[in-house]
Amino acid sequence: MRSKIQRIAVNTGGGDAPGLNAVIRAAALSAESRGWEVVGIRKGYGGLLDESGQGLVTLDRERVRGITHQGGTILGTSNRGNPFTWQQRMPDGTVEVTDRSNDILAAFERHGIDALIAIGGDGSLAIAHDLSLQGLPVVGVPKTIDNDLQGSAFTFGFNTACHVATDAIDRLHSTAESHERVLVMEVMGRDSGWIALESGVAGSADVILIPEIPFDLERVADKIRKREASGQRFAIVVVAEGAAERGGSQRHVGPASEGRAEARLGGVAEFVAGEIQKRTQKETRHLVLGHLQRGGRPTSFDRLIALRFGTAAVRLVEMRAFGSMVALNPPRIESIPLAEAIRSRKTVPLDGDLVQTARDLGICLGD
Ligand code: F6P
Repeated sequence: MRSKIQRIAVNTGGGDAPGLNAVIRAAALSAESRGWEVVGIRKGYGGLLDESGQGLVTLDRERVRGITHQGGTILGTSNRGNPFTWQQRMPDGTVEVTDRSNDILAAFERHGIDALIAIGGDGSLAIAHDLSLQGLPVVGVPKTIDNDLQGSAFTFGFNTACHVATDAIDRLHSTAESHERVLVMEVMGRDSGWIALESGVAGSADVILIPEIPFDLERVADKIRKREASGQRFAIVVVAEGAAERGGSQRHVGPASEGRAEARLGGVAEFVAGEIQKRTQKETRHLVLGHLQRGGRPTSFDRLIALRFGTAAVRLVEMRAFGSMVALNPPRIESIPLAEAIRSRKTVPLDGDLVQTARDLGICLGD
């Protein structure tokens, strides 16, 4: 490792989240002010293995101009790019899995990169952590709309996702009320129900189903029957994609395959809607909000934490605090070991204020 930092790299991994570009810009500008050169690696780690010469992009002031407010990531991303289990499709259609972590380390060396700022969720940060154990100087930046990373009060992207979901609930209210229907909306959240709970409470949903609380469909139907009996002939149900019936399991639309570590979740809203209609005889429709939650302009809250994370990550590189991750511990940005951030998922605490608020408001949580 050189005694003076001269060149750093930035990459984005996993699902996109509003605020990624703001982190990239913040890291690029604060590194430039220290006289460092910054390169972006395209598509996670893929750019380092790309022999076409297109895998790295110089992130100078001009390249990062005007991107703070843009959704997505100018570097591209992938949730199929784990260098430890690199998947390559062979000409005969089979997929070969190899450990390319040494190639990644060699590429960093070859390109004269002194440190990596890895922006990602639990999967991408676990990869960053493993590479740091192999000697790569890494600083992590927490990203996920699910808000399920330990150690940071919030990850960027979450606030924007909640705004989108709350806005969608507001819009559904018109149709639900006018047509006296039940509307079931599925939001993201694999193992944690933060988006469902926060948007559901903010949007005055009647039922909120989250992965942390296995649901009982009779309780849900009961809530809707009671509303009907009291003259409220419509209802809004918000369900996290990872929520499951008591004794049941999560619903999948696709398997973990071709380098994708996790199965694709989906279908719970359709299932819940069908059951509600069967049990209450109320016309019940469902919709899946899907990637609308991940796209578009980040809220000012997400932009600000993203900009703060990006600059803080550069300060950690300067201090050579490698193997760490920036984290929001309001009002401060701090650093925590990467190992701590990826140890477990941050789920909704069942004895927390948010769950209590929902219950006190009369919202049914399916239990
Ligand atoms: O991790 C964020 C997330 O939005 C999850 O809630 C969801 O299960 C997953 O990404 C979907 O990823 P993809 O777009 O790759 O299917």
